[in-house]
Amino acid sequence: YVLGIDLGTSSLKGLLMNEKGEVIGEESSSYPISTPQTGYSEQDPDLWIEAAKKVITLLVRTYPQIKTGLKGISFSGQMHSLVVLDDNKKSIRPAILWNDVRTTKQCQEITEKAGDLVLSLTKNIALEGFTLPKILWLQENEPENWAKVRYMMLPKDYLGLWLTDTFATDFSDAAGTLLLDITKKEWAKPILATFDIPAERLPKLFESQEQIGILTDEIRDLLGFEVNVPVFAGGADNACAAVGSGIIKDGAGMCSIGTSGVFLSFENDASADYEGKLHLFNHAAKGDYYSMGVTLAAGNSLDWFKNTFAEGKSFAELLGGISELAPGADGLLFTPYIVGERTPHVDSKIRGSFIGIDTHHTLTHFAKAVLEGITFSLKDSQVMMETVAGRKFDRIVSVGGGAKNPDWLQMQADIFNATIVNLTVEQGPGLGAAMLAAIGAGWFENAAAAAEVFVHYKDEFTPNAENVATYAKLYKLYTKVYGATKELS
Ligand code: XUL
Repeated sequence: YVLGIDLGTSSLKGLLMNEKGEVIGEESSSYPISTPQTGYSEQDPDLWIEAAKKVITLLVRTYPQIKTGLKGISFSGQMHSLVVLDDNKKSIRPAILWNDVRTTKQCQEITEKAGDLVLSLTKNIALEGFTLPKILWLQENEPENWAKVRYMMLPKDYLGLWLTDTFATDFSDAAGTLLLDITKKEWAKPILATFDIPAERLPKLFESQEQIGILTDEIRDLLGFEVNVPVFAGGADNACAAVGSGIIKDGAGMCSIGTSGVFLSFENDASADYEGKLHLFNHAAKGDYYSMGVTLAAGNSLDWFKNTFAEGKSFAELLGGISELAPGADGLLFTPYIVGERTPHVDSKIRGSFIGIDTHHTLTHFAKAVLEGITFSLKDSQVMMETVAGRKFDRIVSVGGGAKNPDWLQMQADIFNATIVNLTVEQGPGLGAAMLAAIGAGWFENAAAAAEVFVHYKDEFTPNAENVATYAKLYKLYTKVYGATKELS
């Protein structure tokens, strides 16, 4: 057996799998986000430990065969969030999460002082969500805490430390800090020097499937295991979702819709020149890369719409009639910029819009327009990958909440003009983490071999030519709305 642990923003999930790639059991435990001020988003790292303890203990109790039969544990983790520890490996302050936007000033400082250097080594630009701006914020605003920092790490690495007492991270997560030279695969010394960050405070770098240690005796006994269990480094959640979706060769794309939305492409190397408009990170599949664009409010736009205008209705009720309406919601267009936008506009000030409202429009028209607007926003990233780097997507794997509704999946096929498939398991990132443990345990040589056994697709949606043509026209209109409404925000 192998265990994949997905440390998310709202919960921690454990996925227990066997050598045949079958799901044996799943457990999860949720925790809150605290928002001490507008734009702040924090979490006490020890909440993750409590959740992991609960999830693993429950799995051991329900499946006692893993007490002696577990061959490995690995992780998928929320990206970019800054965890700072003192000399005693105790957390100094709550982790500053990826969706915290307090760091606009620090992003400007990075861009002015070392924008070109950062882009050339990390292939990314400074964005509020990334880790380096959070470190600068700590240096400037909490010097007494900064003085105490002995270890800086990412969320899943804190779990690794708890389990094995090793100070480690992997390349895919390190890439999201803005401190990694993603081509040389080492901490970027010129960036560390520019921003006064001592290299010894950063974790040792590992490949995602590499072993970082084994459970300490204390933890092994605490969790109820009777043998030594190896722990493998794991990866960033988007990289793990890509591994779990089989995005490990050219032409493979993934669309992940949760609170935020991601459009992701496999990249063989780091040579595509997206100028920081898309993120370019090391993959959790050894030696590979991936690019991705982020829509900040994807599922969040739909949740907001439902809570505000259709309280008391279920998603099934709200979305029930959308397939009866023609593409385009009869002239109604939505832009999902309700908390600003990351890709392609990198604009935290822009806000969303409904355009073309007519007296005959119903709640169903609005709901359809919301889904279309979210999907158009993700198409912006797809188009950039196609035009800048010549990517061509024959098949896109859809994961997350957006992969649950067949009408939305068909809409994705029609808007992306590609075949869409979904997975047989719900937990894409957890599956990727379990695969990394399986590779680490020696069951498979690499991610491609693991995918043959672990990754299975369920439904397939092929583009409808007529809808594709209609959506191509509507998408052109959609791309004009940003410029036309920018001044108003
Ligand atoms: C990626 C990003 C989010 C987090 C969610 O850049 O900020 O998708 O990875 O955990």
